[in-house]
Amino acid sequence: MSETADSVLSIRNLKTYFFLDEGTVRAVDGVNLEIPKAQTIGIVGESGCGKSVSAFSALRLVAEPGEIVEGEIILHREDGDVVLTDLDDEGEQIRSIRGKEISMIFQEPMTSLSPVHRVGAQIVEAVELHTDLQGQDAMDHAIHMLERVGIPDAPRRATEYPHELSGGMRQRVMIAMALSCQPSLLMADEPTTALDVTIQAQILELMRDLQTEFDMSIMLITHDLGVVAEMADEVAVMYLGRVVEQGSVERIFVAPKHPYTKALMRSIPGIGGGRKTELHTIEGSVPDPFTRPKGCPFHPRCEEAVKGVCDVGDRPELIEIEPGHDVACVLYREEAVDA
Ligand SMILES: Nc1ncnc2c1ncn2[C@@H]1O[C@H](COP(=O)(O)OP(=O)(O)OP(=O)(O)O)[C@@H](O)[C@H]1O
Ligand SMILES: [Mg+2]
Repeated sequence: MSETADSVLSIRNLKTYFFLDEGTVRAVDGVNLEIPKAQTIGIVGESGCGKSVSAFSALRLVAEPGEIVEGEIILHREDGDVVLTDLDDEGEQIRSIRGKEISMIFQEPMTSLSPVHRVGAQIVEAVELHTDLQGQDAMDHAIHMLERVGIPDAPRRATEYPHELSGGMRQRVMIAMALSCQPSLLMADEPTTALDVTIQAQILELMRDLQTEFDMSIMLITHDLGVVAEMADEVAVMYLGRVVEQGSVERIFVAPKHPYTKALMRSIPGIGGGRKTELHTIEGSVPDPFTRPKGCPFHPRCEEAVKGVCDVGDRPELIEIEPGHDVACVLYREEAVDA
C-alpha cells in the first residue's frame, strides 16, 4: 500500500454495519485504502460492494441503523492528522471539514440540495461558511462556478429552485457546490453517470483542471471503467465490503492479479474480448448481504478457486505483491514483498 506520507486520507480496517431486523448488513467489512495526495483514485466494484458507504463513513454521514463499528479514518493535513472516526458526527469539527476540506458529489443529487432554497443561495451558504468570500462576492463566485460546470444563463439559474432544473442540471449544480470551496479531497460518487457525453467530458475536464489548480485529491466512484482509465492514477477494486486489489491504473488494467479484477477487466470492450461495459457480466451473482461465504468471499464465483484452500478459514488479507500493488488472494501469498 502507498505510504501514509503520500496520502490525504487513510482508511484502516473500516467496518460499517447496518443493523436491521432481518440481520446485520456488513456493508463495509474491513476496508483498507490510501487516498493519494493530489491524484485520482478510481473505486470500482459491483453494486452493493460498499463504495458509497465507505465515502459516507469518511464524512461521518452514516445514520441509524448504520454504525461505524471498527477501524479508523484519518485525514492527513499539513499541520497534523485528524482522526475522523473519533469525531462527534454532529460536532463542529466534522462540520468544518464537510464541504470544505472533504466534499462529496452524491450519487443522488437531491441528497445534498435542499428543495426549498434557490440553488445560488445554497452554494453561497457553503462559500460563506467555509471561505472569506461574503455577500455579493460569494454570489459572484457561485455564479462563476455554475458557469464552469456548463450551466447556461447562470445568473438566472442561480435564482431557481432545484425542482425547476433538469436532472442533469441539478447534478451540475451539486458539482459546482462540491467544488466551490476548493476541497483537498473530492469524493465523487458516480458524478457523471446521469449526464450526456458532452457534459460528462466537460465535468471530467473541470475536475482535472481544479485538481491541478488546487492539488485536489479525487476519490472517483464509478461503474464506468472507461472513465476510470481516463481519469485515475490509482484504482481500488472492492468486493463485498473490502478492497481486494489496489494499484496503479496501468497495473490494474493491463496486468490485473485478483481473479475478480480479471473478470471485471474482461467485461470492458477491447480488453479481453468482452463486449459489455457494465460490470454485471461476471458469472454468478453477489451473495446476499447477510451471509458471507467462508474463506475468500469471491470463491464461489472464482474460476481459479482452489478447493480446500479458498473456501476455508478467514478472508485473505491484502498483501503487497510488488511496490504499490496490493492483492487479497491466496494465489499470490508467496509473492508478498515483505514475506
Ligand atoms: N441505509 C442503509 N440501510 C441498510 N443497508 C444499507 C444502507 N445503505 C447501504 N446499505 C447496504 O450496504 C451495502 C453497500 O452499499 P453501498 O451503497 O455502499 O454500495 P455501492 O458499492 O455504493 O453500490 P452501487 O454501485 O449500487 O452504488 C449494500 O448491501 C446496501 O444494501
Ligand atoms: Mg453507491
